[in-house]
Amino acid sequence: MSGVQVRRAPGSAHDADAAVATVRTVDQIRADFPALHRREQGHPVAYFDGPGGTQVPRAVAEAMTNYLLHHNANTHWVYPTSVETDALLDAARVVFADFFNATPADVSFGNNMTTITFHVARALARGWQAGDEIVVTELDHHANVAPWHAVAKERGLVVRTARLDTRTFRTDPDDLAHLIGPRTRLVAIGAASNALGTVSDIAAACALARAAGALSFVDAVHYAPHTLVDVQAIGCDFLACSSYKFYGPHAGILYARAALVQSLDVPRLEPAPELAPERLETGTQNHEGIIGAAAAVTWLASLAGEQGTRRERLALAFAALHQRGDALLVRAWEGLSAIGGVTLYGPMPGTPRTPTVSFTLAGRSTDDVARHLVRHGLYVSNGDFYAQTVAERLGRGADGFVRVGAAAYTSADEVDRMVAAVAELGRG
Ligand SMILES: Cc1ncc(COP(=O)(O)O)c(C=O)c1O
Repeated sequence: MSGVQVRRAPGSAHDADAAVATVRTVDQIRADFPALHRREQGHPVAYFDGPGGTQVPRAVAEAMTNYLLHHNANTHWVYPTSVETDALLDAARVVFADFFNATPADVSFGNNMTTITFHVARALARGWQAGDEIVVTELDHHANVAPWHAVAKERGLVVRTARLDTRTFRTDPDDLAHLIGPRTRLVAIGAASNALGTVSDIAAACALARAAGALSFVDAVHYAPHTLVDVQAIGCDFLACSSYKFYGPHAGILYARAALVQSLDVPRLEPAPELAPERLETGTQNHEGIIGAAAAVTWLASLAGEQGTRRERLALAFAALHQRGDALLVRAWEGLSAIGGVTLYGPMPGTPRTPTVSFTLAGRSTDDVARHLVRHGLYVSNGDFYAQTVAERLGRGADGFVRVGAAAYTSADEVDRMVAAVAELGRG
């Protein structure tokens, strides 16, 4: 598949489409990924495992190698490699400030979203009283559920869980609103479900939290690869994501206003930094990971050329990726739903969602389906993806779903291969 299908729309929407059409084509993007040369049992490998972790473009690996081979040092000393390390880490904060639409002082780094969330949860809970409440959702990955349960147990807090509506595959908005009350201290909500692709109305959830005097913690791990995050528009207090889901290495990134981070009772060891954002970052950081994560954002911005600010280029690149992802989603959805025995889970195309499709095939375990697809060079994930409650509520248990995710390098041809291979298995 090459380029965006430019749909005519009235007025400025057409201009927007034309601008999006300047973003590098899928074929051009694919040329950046050495992993796409891999072959499996005679087939070129198609990576549909993006929701579990995407492939990495050459520029990201090169930024990390360059750092390790030529600038590697610990921070805050006077010799050049240390000074260069400080400068590269500062630059990474600036890049992520653009990524989030925040300021560099609002950006901190950690191992991954789960570790960051535990750390923030512990710090917050130190300031809460027994009986205070945290609201979580059934739809969320347990990385944004388990940390809150853990601190609730330690501190005598109450966790309230907003119901998944199994007909819409969305959090029941009335239930969520009903659960948020005067004792609510925090609402923990996912921006997008890694299991079903559902994109939630997080701006509305954060507004409800704010109105109740509570904080909001957004899990953007499955959202950030597909939609440009805008923390101002979302109105959240915390937002965490992981760069290995958007073409970077394994590193976690947190947005939280510096003043809020400064006020947290963070478990710290002397002489760790006292000032935000570094006070959230324990010990020596994963410098090469942070630098690689920033390189992933720089690579995403580069898809839209060199004109404009980084944020403007990111906006264009994400708009194009979104359009392409929607087209691939429709193709996968229509292809799979035409196969006898396939059940699809998740909101319909055309509603707020990511290009992540979960399905099952009657008479086959999800493991059988995933192994069959490997024989065709198609790498897909299966199971409950740590969204255990979603799998339980949909009657799937640990067998869960087969999950197919489109990424920036996914082609229509790959989607067709995947649909054909599932159809072959369906025929027995
Ligand atoms: C939606 C979602 N939230 C949280 C996580 C956990 O992220 P991490 O691996 O960075 O801890 C994942 C990982 O798959 C995820 O998909």
